[in-house]
Amino acid sequence: MSIHDETILILDFGSQTTQLIARRIREQKVYCEIHPYSIDLSSIREMAPRGIILSGGPASVYDTDAPLSDPAIFELGLPILGICYGAQLMIQQLGGRVEKAVKREFGKAELAINYTRGLFAGLETDPARHQVWMSHGDRIEEAPGFEATAISSHSPFAALRHHEKPFVAVQFHPEVAHTLIGTDVLRNFIFGLCECSPSWTMHSFIESTVEAIKAKVGSGQVICALSGGVDSSVTAALVHRAIGDQLTCIYVNNGLMRTGESGSILRYFREKTSLKVVDIDACDFFLGELAGVVDPEIKRKRIGLGFIKIFEDEAQKLGEVSYLAQGTLYPDVIESVSFRGEAPIKSHHNVGGLPEIMKLQLIEPLRELFKDEVRELGLELGLPEEAIFRQPFPGPGLGIRIMGEVTEERLNIIRQADVIVLEEMKKNGWYRKVWQSFAVLLPIQTVGVMGDGRTYENVVALRAVDSRDAMTADWSHLPYDLLGIISNRIINEVRGVNRVVYDISSKPPATIEWE
Ligand code: XMP
Repeated sequence: MSIHDETILILDFGSQTTQLIARRIREQKVYCEIHPYSIDLSSIREMAPRGIILSGGPASVYDTDAPLSDPAIFELGLPILGICYGAQLMIQQLGGRVEKAVKREFGKAELAINYTRGLFAGLETDPARHQVWMSHGDRIEEAPGFEATAISSHSPFAALRHHEKPFVAVQFHPEVAHTLIGTDVLRNFIFGLCECSPSWTMHSFIESTVEAIKAKVGSGQVICALSGGVDSSVTAALVHRAIGDQLTCIYVNNGLMRTGESGSILRYFREKTSLKVVDIDACDFFLGELAGVVDPEIKRKRIGLGFIKIFEDEAQKLGEVSYLAQGTLYPDVIESVSFRGEAPIKSHHNVGGLPEIMKLQLIEPLRELFKDEVRELGLELGLPEEAIFRQPFPGPGLGIRIMGEVTEERLNIIRQADVIVLEEMKKNGWYRKVWQSFAVLLPIQTVGVMGDGRTYENVVALRAVDSRDAMTADWSHLPYDLLGIISNRIINEVRGVNRVVYDISSKPPATIEWE
């Protein structure tokens, strides 16, 4: 059941831009959710959406295994917008005809609008031509009960509206930036046809989420693993606002954190809030667990298990704990279910395995939000900017940025190099421009010359990547001068390093972390 008053439901037919539809709608301060197209009617009724959007998708509506929505959605009395495949499906399910197009239409197209109300309200008629982005190999040929509200050179039905019902459809993609009138079209749908109001703000999100957490937890106890990263910090701040002292945060210093990684956020929670934070120093324990280990997967397992053990001990000390708060985000939720709704839900790696082992119920207050919305929420909750705009940092920490064995000495080297990378990225205005930037310590030594002497020392690799969501990434084109400064400083200031290299691999085929 949605806790939101006005929801737009997006049914996903597998388009790569379905998430973008959600982004564009939320930017208009209207709440929306994406669900697999096969969601059952009773769930839709329970959600009580203001309107439904049928997304695009790679199939053809006439394929034998084409994903179809339940035709009963057209009987709900709700406004429905079909986009691309969603448009063709709507027309076909309501008695029209869709066929393979003689000429496929991909990329930019010009739209001639002939009906300037409904989806096109407020748009100019003169000249009634607008750039839109198309991507379809099928074409609507017949649409009884509908009329064309726009055409393009290859689509006699580039946009349609039903004569009597609030059903509209567009062959183009209003959610992509290349469709210059895309925002107008989506606004006309959500505000005009669906009569939503722009009321979904971070402020209203906080209010409704706080109420939902209170109702769920009652007088129970909640724990939250605080890592210093943005997701866990925002989760803790939000849950704390709801239930105050019933929340205990556990911060485990595993000895694999970078210099100052968690200090500032812990200081903030301790000094500026009344949040209870249990701070556990487990550096020696983890270094012991990692002694002699070079295989990255074994490192990960030992770190994960060590974390669970400590967490379990602490939770037991606290007594009756029944909830675990964690910072799962919306992309994790969407990615875990395929649009056909059949893939098993993947387990989130935030605090992998904890809920099952500890029999805790989950509280995931960010599971409806995208990363930038989480950042906005954090600011609204008063978290400091430096915590909000921090680059992602992996759970196993520097343990997977040291190739080969993790020792105190090698941790020392990587920490010093890492500080220099971050200092220079920030000083030169690049820290927030890239997704991540960090140093990696390689397991080899090379020959160098310092002063008059020969050296035989470590190599540090620099990694900086641009990415939207870490699923794919490209190496950042940092200025040569900046690379030069970082390299010089590391070689001059970090004892034990005589060579620095820059990683110019993209993901795929490489990954962001070296491990
Ligand atoms: P890869 O190396 O798989 O990393 O390209 C993708 C993104 O995920 C981060 N990462 C992790 N984050 N726990 C996390 O919370 C982990 O175990 C973990 N491993 C990798 C990585 O820093 C990058 O942003």
